[in-house]
Amino acid sequence: MINEIKKIERSAKTEIPEAKTAEDLQELKIQFLGRERGALTLILRGLKQLPEKERVRVGKDANKLRGLLESLFEKRGRELEALTIESVLKTERIDVTRPGVRQKRGHLHPHTTVLDEIERIFGSMGFEVAEGPEVETEHYNFDALNIPADHPARDMWDTFWLRQNESKRQNSPPGANPPQAEKVKSNERLLLRTHTSPVQIRYMEKHNPPFRIIAPGRAYRYEATDASHEFQFYQVEGLMVDKTVSIANFKAVIESFFSQLFKTKVRTRLRPSYFPFVEPGFEVDIACVICNQKGCSPCKKTGWLEMMGAGMVHPNVFKAAGYNPKQWQGFAFGMGLDRIVMMKYKIPDIRLFHSGDLRFLKQF
Ligand code: DAH
Repeated sequence: MINEIKKIERSAKTEIPEAKTAEDLQELKIQFLGRERGALTLILRGLKQLPEKERVRVGKDANKLRGLLESLFEKRGRELEALTIESVLKTERIDVTRPGVRQKRGHLHPHTTVLDEIERIFGSMGFEVAEGPEVETEHYNFDALNIPADHPARDMWDTFWLRQNESKRQNSPPGANPPQAEKVKSNERLLLRTHTSPVQIRYMEKHNPPFRIIAPGRAYRYEATDASHEFQFYQVEGLMVDKTVSIANFKAVIESFFSQLFKTKVRTRLRPSYFPFVEPGFEVDIACVICNQKGCSPCKKTGWLEMMGAGMVHPNVFKAAGYNPKQWQGFAFGMGLDRIVMMKYKIPDIRLFHSGDLRFLKQF
């Protein structure tokens, strides 16, 4: 047994300090000290069978060996731990002096930026934002705006009509996603709205005056595209209704709006014009903010830029929306957003907006 102890001691002294990993070390621990079959455990268990004298001697040696084993394991354990930390530090080192990786940030489309600004300016004058559907009915886009089917002014709006299932049109509200289904008469024709003016009617049907709103959104026209025309474009509609609303009110609001938008005092001029939904109707020009009225190509050397159509709400429009035209007055306007954005950022071609060309988009 003494020999056995010596043998264990020898192999422990060479094997334990050479354990490569914590797992190897654990293996060895089981081999030497394991409760079931550990080499030393077996010896201690065998002590009982020895005669008294020998038992004391062997017991002493066995205990010494246990102390030795424990200290060998502890020492190697600490060494391995230190080695692991060292290698982790080596492989997972973070170089805090390295320059960071720049995060790519998204940004707003110029339409969005300018529209946000427009909403802020009108908001500061008490205007709320209203919305309406892009798929409209003939009623809201035309008839309710005093443009009946046989009206020659319908030619002003080249229209995308939607193809509708004839039999369905007779029986149920048409379209997979009809605007305000309950408002669509069963045989009503659908179209892509040609302007944002139908939002005027939709808003008035649901709200009582007095109020001030703007209604920004997309509109569509069936026409060829060029540098200043797209078949899909943006408009901002405006409507203010109260007991007494005058053209002077309109001019004040609109001059303040353009001055804030272009960050300089902007003069406006109203030219008589015709739109079926207003009377009187006019075209609003602003003194050219590009050349300061010296004459440039955007203002066609006139010194004036055409910015919007506008007028005093026609009595027939009030009637169509269920208002008493004797009781209420209002002004309305509609302007193209694309043109304003193009002026603000000196963008030469409207088709760039939806070109998906990142070289264009990244500039904003
Ligand atoms: N809806 C007209 C268009 O797209 C623009 C317009 C003119 C709107 C006069 C108005 C208005 O509200 O009063 O051509």
